[in-house]
Amino acid sequence: MTDRGRSLRCATELDTIALGERIGTALLPGDLLALSGPLGAGKTVLVRGIAQGLGADPRVVRSPTFVLHHVYPTVLPLHHIDLYRLGANVDVAFLDLDGLLEDGAVTVEWGELADLRRFDPVRISIDAEADGARCCVLETGAPQRVMAAWGADRG
Ligand SMILES: Nc1ncnc2c1ncn2[C@@H]1O[C@H](COP(=O)(O)OP(=O)(O)O)[C@@H](O)[C@H]1O
Ligand SMILES: [Mg+2]
Repeated sequence: MTDRGRSLRCATELDTIALGERIGTALLPGDLLALSGPLGAGKTVLVRGIAQGLGADPRVVRSPTFVLHHVYPTVLPLHHIDLYRLGANVDVAFLDLDGLLEDGAVTVEWGELADLRRFDPVRISIDAEADGARCCVLETGAPQRVMAAWGADRG
């Protein structure tokens, strides 16, 4: 696999939603996705796609910046967390991620603000390019089914 295989260009918001949908269909209980990228990059848009892939009404997916945690009742509970307001080095113990991951999947915006290594996160970063497209990168170590959904399993 080349680095290029893990980096996808999403020219429009709909492309990012479609990528999220593919990821959503590949998720299993116990999966934690750590999403990074600056404000406005498209993390919430990607989660909207993921929720849609799991069968949620995408209209219910809003940024959890102010409430910290949403849960969408999809085929598996999809938890949507945003650590932005908590700042750097936040201790996520109070979120009971172990409990959430027992039967659900968890997406964490600003996942880089906490030490999530123990949850073996799938790491995705999103950045805007000069022309407004988004460059989405799947970091190494993701399960094969997520790599396949990403299209990063094709050499
Ligand atoms: N290719 C794209 N992918 C995702 N979002 C895009 C794209 N192009 C423009 N946008 C816009 O960028 C914004 C992304 O917002 P949001 O997902 O809330 O960012 P974040 O959660 O990373 O702060 C939305 O207003 C969306 O319409
Ligand atoms: Mg957001």
